[in-house]
Amino acid sequence: MRTPIADFVRAYANSGSVRLHMPGHKGKAFLGCEPLDITEINGADVLYSAHGIIDESERNASHLFKTAHTYYSTEGSTLAIKAMLMLAMQSRKSDTPPVVLAARNVHRAFISAAALIDFSVEWLYPAKTESLCECIVSADAVEGVLRNMPSLPFAVYITSPDYLGNIADVEGIARVCERHGLPLLVDNAHGAYLAFTSPTLHPIALGAAMCVDSAHKTLPVLTGGAYLHISEQFSRYAENARSALSLFASTSPSYLVLQSLDLCNAYLADSYTERLSEFVKGLELAKQKIRSIGFSIRLSEPLKIVLDTVEFGYTGNEVAQFLRENNIEAEYADEKFVTLMLTPENDGEDISRLLLALASLEKREPIKEPDYPPLKPTEQVISIREAVFSPRRRVNVTDSVGKICADAAISCPPAIPIAISGERITEDLAALLTAYGINEIAIVDC
Ligand SMILES: Cc1ncc(COP(=O)(O)O)c(C=O)c1O
Repeated sequence: MRTPIADFVRAYANSGSVRLHMPGHKGKAFLGCEPLDITEINGADVLYSAHGIIDESERNASHLFKTAHTYYSTEGSTLAIKAMLMLAMQSRKSDTPPVVLAARNVHRAFISAAALIDFSVEWLYPAKTESLCECIVSADAVEGVLRNMPSLPFAVYITSPDYLGNIADVEGIARVCERHGLPLLVDNAHGAYLAFTSPTLHPIALGAAMCVDSAHKTLPVLTGGAYLHISEQFSRYAENARSALSLFASTSPSYLVLQSLDLCNAYLADSYTERLSEFVKGLELAKQKIRSIGFSIRLSEPLKIVLDTVEFGYTGNEVAQFLRENNIEAEYADEKFVTLMLTPENDGEDISRLLLALASLEKREPIKEPDYPPLKPTEQVISIREAVFSPRRRVNVTDSVGKICADAAISCPPAIPIAISGERITEDLAALLTAYGINEIAIVDC
């Protein structure tokens, strides 16, 4: 597969051209990568009105991900989520209210989108949850809520996979959406690689209208590289996709990230499916070994190992700290779980070191499960936008009960808001904030 962006930049870097254009480093190696760091010079195309090498590279990605169109973001899924919601909002029928039906475990980018685009949210809550990270909703639950809404939303939005590796029933929820004539939007930030599993688990293949993937989270792409995918069935969104992205994006996209996304196409086209399948098999064996040590491992998407540590006698944070002392850094930990993210770029040595470290941790008496108050529907007093743009003051969480949340209070990672802007802070929400280590919160100053 051709790599037109990477080829162009390499040729330019080797051309000996006098750089009388931005960036200011002029290709001199301060960090090391500057010779390849260019801006939108002649021939380099323009990301948000691409007709040249970027367009060609995105078409390669569209082919690989089997989409009507795949667009690049050099500012992560955070940018692509806003553009995806903007496109769905713009395409709604004129009598459809600006409301999205969304599973509650959204990334903070969704709240930013609600504030900037000004839509409101009908939240879907899980029947049962062990963590802020998850909000497993069934297709039937989505159907039930849609039937009871006074008017239909302009989109249904879910996060799948989530930080604990849960994969939603995208296919079932997409069928419900189709029956109601609604687009299903999926935050697939953690699942770019799912387009290459057998069978495919990628949201576009399972019926989503659009989804975003952080290429950088699971593929060999520099941080910031992400995709906005549009399905064949909803190809009408493509007409305005670049303008939706440019509404929120910098006019100086990183060509390092663009080259990385471009090279990733060639990597994916070159027997990645087989490599991934082999790696996943090896990882399943590693998971069995970890279970035999006595750890409980959650069922999850293939590239995550999610340890439920309380049975082993530790909090997730304690196990993450133990791994850190053994020179192994986890992706996420809380009072109950540790999430480890692996890709085929982790070699056998990495996995051996993980197994060795876990085997050296002494098993203890099980500890008590953390007792989180359930996340329950709360009064939305003012819109997310009004709250985000309101005067505010910071108070201790203990003094916030009864007040209106100004900024989505976030624990990061996973950057999932606990209290949403505009919501009345209840005793339960305050307790949950404290349980996740948040002691201060911005409230609307009224
Ligand atoms: C579920 C989810 N969605 C979106 C994002 C944002 O992705 P990015 O870092 O590519 O902007 C993240 C980041 O961690 C995430 O976990």
